[in-house]
Amino acid sequence: MSKELNRFLDVAIEAARSAGAIHLFYRDQDFGVSSKSNFSDLVTIVDKKSEEKIREVILGQFPDHAILGEEMGQNREAEHLWVVDPLDGTVNYAHGFPFSCVSIGLEIGGVRSVGVVFDPNRSELFTAIRGQGAFLNGRRIQVSSTPDLMSPALLATGFPYDVASDPTNLEKFSRFLKLGLPVRRPGAAALDISYVACGRLDGFWEYKLNPWDVSAALLILEEAGGAFSAMSGEAFRYGDPLVLSNGRIQQQILEVLK
Ligand code: IPD
Ligand code: CA
Ligand code: CA
Ligand code: CA
Repeated sequence: MSKELNRFLDVAIEAARSAGAIHLFYRDQDFGVSSKSNFSDLVTIVDKKSEEKIREVILGQFPDHAILGEEMGQNREAEHLWVVDPLDGTVNYAHGFPFSCVSIGLEIGGVRSVGVVFDPNRSELFTAIRGQGAFLNGRRIQVSSTPDLMSPALLATGFPYDVASDPTNLEKFSRFLKLGLPVRRPGAAALDISYVACGRLDGFWEYKLNPWDVSAALLILEEAGGAFSAMSGEAFRYGDPLVLSNGRIQQQILEVLK
């Protein structure tokens, strides 16, 4: 099994690096921005070309596996399901704000088993195999040891494209600000979560995320010693509002969000 998982990881890395090269190539070209659900929900040629490339690499090796990707296919039923965000942080990318990534997770029998998040802007590759730890460019990573929310912790959150339709998080966001805590809104959920995994952030929450935003990064976080749950404090399932942290401050974040 472990040898097989390593092979899956290698293919995920190859796919993520190939997509990352597409991100970098198009940075100085016309990448054809258009909008999806509303004017601020952007998509570019890069989102589509990256997903095409990732599909080609993965299905070239594993033709009987399935892919759940943001842009091109929502297959959810398969023993081996690759959960892919070809470009996480499209709005950042479209503005030349260098905080975006490729996210590729593999779920086997519904269990997150392999995760790769690649930030081509910094050439940072976050990887994990279930039970084998989490790594950044080959070096083992761990969540921060920040003991208390008021240490203070550095937090991040994100908002859906249709903020007006669900103002809940604006109010929650302001609660932390009123406590005097530093809160960021970086704009690429997979990378935000990977930053908690390597200790650059202490905690993160977001209301509406899709499986492709979180599949890879949640495994990386778990393998780095972090904790995550639904906002209710119960076990997280896709679609639930997500709260995560270094573990030590999880309960305190949940209390503020309550
Ligand atoms: C978005 C980013 C953003 C988050 C949104 C996501 P996309 O993904 O992860 O940080 O706040 O909820 O939809 O569209 O850039 O892949
Ligand atoms: Ca998108
Ligand atoms: Ca995304
Ligand atoms: Ca995306």
